[in-house]
Amino acid sequence: AQHFIYQNDVLTVDGVPLDKLAAQFGTPLYVYSKTALIEHFHQYADTCKRHETDDIHSLVCYSVKSNSNLAILNILGREGAGFDIVSGGELLRVIAAGCDPRKVIFSGVGKTTEEISLALKHDILCFNVESFAELQRINRIASEMGKKARISFRVNPDVDPKTHPYISTGLKENKFGIPFEEALSCYEQASKMTHIDVTGIDCHIGSQLLDDSPLLEALDKLIGLYDQLAQRNIELQHIDIGGGIGITYDNEEPVAVPEYLSRLFRKIGEWKNANYPGKPLAIMFEPGRSISGNAGLLLTQVQYLKTNSDKHFAIVDAAMNDLMRPSLYEAWHTVLPVVKRNGSALTYDVVGPVCESGDWLARQRKLSIEADDYLAVMSAGAYGMAMASNYNTRGRAAEVLVDNGQVHLIRQRERAEELYALETIVS
Ligand code: LLP
Repeated sequence: AQHFIYQNDVLTVDGVPLDKLAAQFGTPLYVYSKTALIEHFHQYADTCKRHETDDIHSLVCYSVKSNSNLAILNILGREGAGFDIVSGGELLRVIAAGCDPRKVIFSGVGKTTEEISLALKHDILCFNVESFAELQRINRIASEMGKKARISFRVNPDVDPKTHPYISTGLKENKFGIPFEEALSCYEQASKMTHIDVTGIDCHIGSQLLDDSPLLEALDKLIGLYDQLAQRNIELQHIDIGGGIGITYDNEEPVAVPEYLSRLFRKIGEWKNANYPGKPLAIMFEPGRSISGNAGLLLTQVQYLKTNSDKHFAIVDAAMNDLMRPSLYEAWHTVLPVVKRNGSALTYDVVGPVCESGDWLARQRKLSIEADDYLAVMSAGAYGMAMASNYNTRGRAAEVLVDNGQVHLIRQRERAEELYALETIVS
């Protein structure tokens, strides 16, 4: 369904006009559609359900880093989601959102002692271990706590995800995971550790993948390792294929999630029926962007229009601190006027007030706008607010959730006093 559409030339979110929201809550403002969020989650969950059998189960672990607002975690938790986290802070968010820590998997290359203890205390589902040193640390902490830690190794399948180099993570030269060739020996050593329970294997090859063939190729490699481990009597209970499919920002055409999942489950079903009939196996996913990305937008207001030599600038009240993706990756976000005008269009760079040339949200866009107009920066639900900073002592934007006709403020706008509240003057 279309959640962000024009009605009588006014852009709406599930029927709620965005100019009303901007006037009521101020700008910059993140706006999310609850129905979009739930719909996107169910593209995964429902397809998984359809492919479940007596011995093939699944768990969709929403990647908290893409958008970690408590309201969003809570909604997804109630729909049955598990969670993929990368810090102790994210674990505390999941718990604060009322969700079940026993459905949490913990990824990341640098888990600290404190984070591991916290995760063990809350009995998380699995640590996605990224190095042998980390495994040793987990074993030691688990032994001190008298617990057994469930672990999976994040292996690096060395496939090219064909995405932006900053968000591609499965190639040999990345810092992530353990090299494919070392996996067997890591598993063998792990299986002998007294406080480690080896339960799975995982990978994550990159983000914003439009094609699923690299993912299916990675799956083949994981299956190959599963077989080799089975021959050594190391029996895994789950396979976790990492993050989800990419989304449309401009005119990208990502493979449909149900199609990708169907291909994946077919592959797994055939292999498992042939080799391990009746043996239980869980398939796990860690999608973020494809759930939250196109469930949200960033609303901003034009402050000034100006022309330097022959370049037109729309200076808006949102900036790189609110949405870092354009500055960081030269990412494209569609910019739409909230209320359409008939006047003639000019080509603008849409820029923020931060004192950096890299502070732009969109470049060379044809827009018919005037000062004080509202603009919507689309597809900003993932890695938008989650990556926001306070650079230039700018309080982070407020966040609003539209639930059918109802509007809820799910995060207040930060005030300047809050930004320096933890600081001390030295006399
Ligand atoms: N699992 C792991 C281990 C990850 O590192 C990530 C994302 C995900 C799952 C979720 O991937 P997704 O389904 O969202 O593609 N800030 C960048 C994206 C960084 C992605 C980092 N890892 C951006 O704005 O494009």
